[in-house]
Amino acid sequence: MEFTALIPAAGLGTRMLPATKETPKEMLPVPVRSGSSIVFKPFIQVIFEHLYGAGIRSFVFVVGRGKRILQDHFLPDYDLLEELEQKGKEEQASTLREFHRMLEDSTIIWVDQHEPRGLGDAVKRGLQAVSTEGVLVHLGDILLYGRDNFLSEFLSVYKEAPSCSALLGLFRVKDPRKYGVVVPGEEIRRNLYRLVGMVEKPENPPSDMIITGVYAFRTRDIREALESTGKNPRTGEIEITDAIARLVEGGGVCGYVAEAYDYIDIGKPETYIETLFRLVQD
Ligand code: UTP
Repeated sequence: MEFTALIPAAGLGTRMLPATKETPKEMLPVPVRSGSSIVFKPFIQVIFEHLYGAGIRSFVFVVGRGKRILQDHFLPDYDLLEELEQKGKEEQASTLREFHRMLEDSTIIWVDQHEPRGLGDAVKRGLQAVSTEGVLVHLGDILLYGRDNFLSEFLSVYKEAPSCSALLGLFRVKDPRKYGVVVPGEEIRRNLYRLVGMVEKPENPPSDMIITGVYAFRTRDIREALESTGKNPRTGEIEITDAIARLVEGGGVCGYVAEAYDYIDIGKPETYIETLFRLVQD
């Protein structure tokens, strides 16, 4: 099955203000090891490279007002490259050349979410530009990070579990009360569960497994589920979790626990700082 990556990046990022007043949260810089040195990349580029590393070549980014800088970042800059080469800045030139190579090898579509009306709305809009049978939805401010590429593992688990029509990336935490938590059913194999429900920020969590923001769907299924999902009475927004809850009723939703990975998140000051430290560790 072929996949398009759909990356919602149109949120306001209010928890990271004032850094995100003019700079999109997804453009915040993070350190990445490159041989014996460290380079800083915008977080969204790190996500893109992980998706690319998992074999994905078709991308849909959902963006909004004030997010043009994201689109500019994903356009090759041959003048800058030539200037670096002329000045003998080989290390920087090679990092840029590598990014250009991935961009030239990919198809990228930009979709507008006119107002940040929630994740479900962002995904619904992005889906209009998806023409592959499968879609991997990946939030623009989180990553499951470890020695290997979690997204490669995640896509192979999905492809090898035909009874799972949708797969959610899960992570175990000590205190799941402030997250979306899944209700697991049958354990199909180690770390792979059929899901029977989901609860948002539960006082008495039904498990220690939280929803991370990485999802694989059959495009048709999630499109239909979102189309028949109304606004959530509590938030007033179309919620992706409500659409997934519909799919859970159909019985084909599974969850895969990212066991050998860390869950990193740049959406809050404390977790952004943790991300910076985590990414420079081995
Ligand atoms: P968050 O739930 O962190 O929301 O979005 P946010 O608006 O970015 O940040 P806060 O809550 O104001 O601090 C998770 C991901 O979903 C995208 C965001 O850009 C981020 O990548 N998103 C969120 C959208 O694309 N559209 C939305 O309406 C909301």
